[in-house]
Amino acid sequence: MAPTASSAELLQAQAELWCHAMAYLRSMALQSVIKLGIPTAIHRCGGAASLSELHAHLPVPASKLPCLSRLMKLLVISGVFGESEAGAYSLTPVSRLLVEDDAAGGRRACLSPFAILATSPFHLRSSQRLPEWMEKEDAAAETPFMMAHGGAGFYGYAGRDLKLGALFNEAMGADGRVVAEVVVGECGELFAGIASLVDVGGGDGTMAKAAAKAFPHVRCKVLELPQVAGNMPVGGMVEFVAGDMMEFIPPADVVLLKQIILLLQFVLHNWSDEDCVRILKRAREAISTREPKGKVVIIDTVAGSVSSKQAFEAQVLMDICMMMLTTGEVRDEEKWRGLFVNAARVRWPVDPCDMRSPDLGGRAREGLGQGSAGSGVGGGGAASELES
Ligand SMILES: C[S@@+](CC[C@H](N)C(=O)[O-])C[C@H]1O[C@@H](n2cnc3c(N)ncnc32)[C@H](O)[C@@H]1O
Repeated sequence: MAPTASSAELLQAQAELWCHAMAYLRSMALQSVIKLGIPTAIHRCGGAASLSELHAHLPVPASKLPCLSRLMKLLVISGVFGESEAGAYSLTPVSRLLVEDDAAGGRRACLSPFAILATSPFHLRSSQRLPEWMEKEDAAAETPFMMAHGGAGFYGYAGRDLKLGALFNEAMGADGRVVAEVVVGECGELFAGIASLVDVGGGDGTMAKAAAKAFPHVRCKVLELPQVAGNMPVGGMVEFVAGDMMEFIPPADVVLLKQIILLLQFVLHNWSDEDCVRILKRAREAISTREPKGKVVIIDTVAGSVSSKQAFEAQVLMDICMMMLTTGEVRDEEKWRGLFVNAARVRWPVDPCDMRSPDLGGRAREGLGQGSAGSGVGGGGAASELES
């Protein structure tokens, strides 16, 4: 008997619910194929491989081949891999980002570390505390991460747990390489005429190194927590300074008539409005010490500033990730405006310059300038001049 219209709807809704309820299995399947090295294996097979060809490259016993085929089916319908009628698996734009060989298609970006971090027990354990955390008016823990990790905040815990610290720094470095390529390649005007740069919360220095390489006249420093700065090599093209951006941001050496820039790349989305204001105040102090004054460049996500539904969903997921791990959020234009104008008392806007691109998944660049130039805003981006 054919289902009636309403029972067809009911069955459709049930199927959708199954998809939502078991969506975490997509994440774990993704983690599995990365750990098994499948994207790299397909790449080494010339970009397409049958199950048996794949098997020759993988640490999977023959008895598990039927299970591997089932796992691949999920990732094919999710768009992570392609599959030909003859049954050969191929890379898609998504899985090309997971190939570990340096030379892959002339690219250098590999986002596997980011996917491994996002599917790690640190994230999963925190997400399981969400319902309990939501119910608490005055939670002893500020975030679900803290609830799941004995009351420790994300960065405090990452400083003590070597595994999380290494996973996190590797993931940020991998993600940062993609962004650095775009910023240095497409926004060279940012670095024109500047003498020095401090990348505040600059992680392993990926961005600062890219800037130092492309603009050798610019002295580049990275301000990082001692746990990160202390593990970085001394004497390279980038100087690491250990410190706390809430307390002090070092002014770079200013050469006459040249400016410094302070870079805040994917930092403010980790923090509440109150903490962002503290950081912005320290930034203002750091660029105001001498003439001509420097500028603060903020590279961060502007929620809603994307054209595809998928990119928007990625922003919403990242917002929940911030809620789970930190006190921050992914701000939309209005919230950025509120933060700059009301809280940090900066003028808005200055000089549009949008670097949204498909590669960045809708991330936009914002600039807070002082003195001669704000670095820009575009459609969804934001730039403001700091009031002195
Ligand atoms: C989300 S990561 C962004 C890293 C890098 N800017 C990027 O875009 O890849 C934030 C960085 O801020 C650093 N950080 C957190 N709290 C800090 C503080 N109080 N002072 C300086 N750096 C801090 C973290 O260690 C981390 O590397």
